[in-house]
Amino acid sequence: MATVPQDVIEKHRLVPVIVLQDAGHAEPLGRALVSGGLPIAEVTFRTDAAAESIRRMAENPDLCVGAGTVLTTDQVDQAQDAGASFIVSPGLNPKVVRHALDKGIPVFPGVSNPSDIEMGLDLGLNTLKFFPAEAVGGVKLLKAVSAPYHHVRFIPTGGISPANLKDYLQLASVLACGGSWMVPQDRITQSDFESVERLVAEAVTLANPS
Ligand code: 3PG
Repeated sequence: MATVPQDVIEKHRLVPVIVLQDAGHAEPLGRALVSGGLPIAEVTFRTDAAAESIRRMAENPDLCVGAGTVLTTDQVDQAQDAGASFIVSPGLNPKVVRHALDKGIPVFPGVSNPSDIEMGLDLGLNTLKFFPAEAVGGVKLLKAVSAPYHHVRFIPTGGISPANLKDYLQLASVLACGGSWMVPQDRITQSDFESVERLVAEAVTLANPS
């Protein structure tokens, strides 16, 4: 997909956080995401299947595929080699961020307080993951920490569900919300991609009411 990941994420306002145990599920999952109206995938480096899953998903020209839970510079390399077009990390590791920026791949590291945000600004970033959103204080904290940094956009992730999605999306500082609720691992391992597509479509409707 020859588009800027940040623009695709901003347009759809959702980032599905995916854990794949079996790269054989990558292609049907990618198709379910696209059919459900969400052509974005954040495939996490929490399993050995991550790089191969990214490779298979990235072959789908309709999908914008990124790598999540990227903790090392080596994983940045693996992700980019596999075809990932963006990098997401749970925390802000300056080494990982600099490496991604040097390689020209957009990176959204996790932050949860003003010091983290300022470290991100110092590295030249203006889009940051807010993680773990609900556990650190939710919408109330995000609203408070957004105030001094009006040019920073956040992707809150962690504990987001259909019940609180809109509360986050209504904040001007929120670019999109991340989460795993629309791509449950049990449905994926059962190859129940129809359910995944339905959950994705429901999330898309909720995030982008017409
Ligand atoms: C992540 O890595 O971003 C989170 O584990 C996703 O959080 P969630 O499972 O609460 O949506």
